[in-house]
Amino acid sequence: MFISFKQEIEALAARVVADPALHGRWLNTLSYLEHCGACKIAASAHPSAVKEERLKHAAEEFRHAHYLKTQLRRIGQCCVDYRRSSLLGGWATYHYLHRLDLFASRQNQSHAYLLTTYAIELRAAELYPLYQEALRKSGSKVRVQSILLEEEEHLAEMERELGLAPGSATFIRAVCEEEGRLCELWLRACFRTTEIVYPNNLKNRL
Ligand SMILES: [Fe+2]
Ligand SMILES: [Fe+2]
Repeated sequence: MFISFKQEIEALAARVVADPALHGRWLNTLSYLEHCGACKIAASAHPSAVKEERLKHAAEEFRHAHYLKTQLRRIGQCCVDYRRSSLLGGWATYHYLHRLDLFASRQNQSHAYLLTTYAIELRAAELYPLYQEALRKSGSKVRVQSILLEEEEHLAEMERELGLAPGSATFIRAVCEEEGRLCELWLRACFRTTEIVYPNNLKNRL
């Protein structure tokens, strides 16, 4: 169901933390994805029927986007916005969440928010600890611990909510598989913009 990219993410994180300019673009890329997720959560919330949990989730994803921006200063970098030249992964970064959201909507319109968010929280639970470990190893001033803890809570919440949705197992499998495919495209694009070779010797699923 969930496709791990542990070795690919480890290799990418080790490469970017060693180079401040690439590291800045990586932080900005994660900030963009957090912002994109936050906008999607906010857009899917009903203006008057929204529950506290959804508000909390949107607020925390916006906080993550901003917090990652603040970390840029700790490595002497500045990205004024999310233009392509300030990101890693180019168009694949722009398309990652939109394509997943579209796929989830086609699978199950009423649970698209839950399905998309669940798949992304699973990826965040893999990515942030690996990134944090790369930061620790390199002695970087950047910190992502506070994001990691909130993403763990989000994942638990999504698991609980999906557990209450009847017949969700089939949709979860399909959406997680699609997320794996899109994540691989995104990682390959990130490798291309860092000009290091995607570790095909490790895995080649496409
Ligand atoms: Fe987040
Ligand atoms: Fe989250």
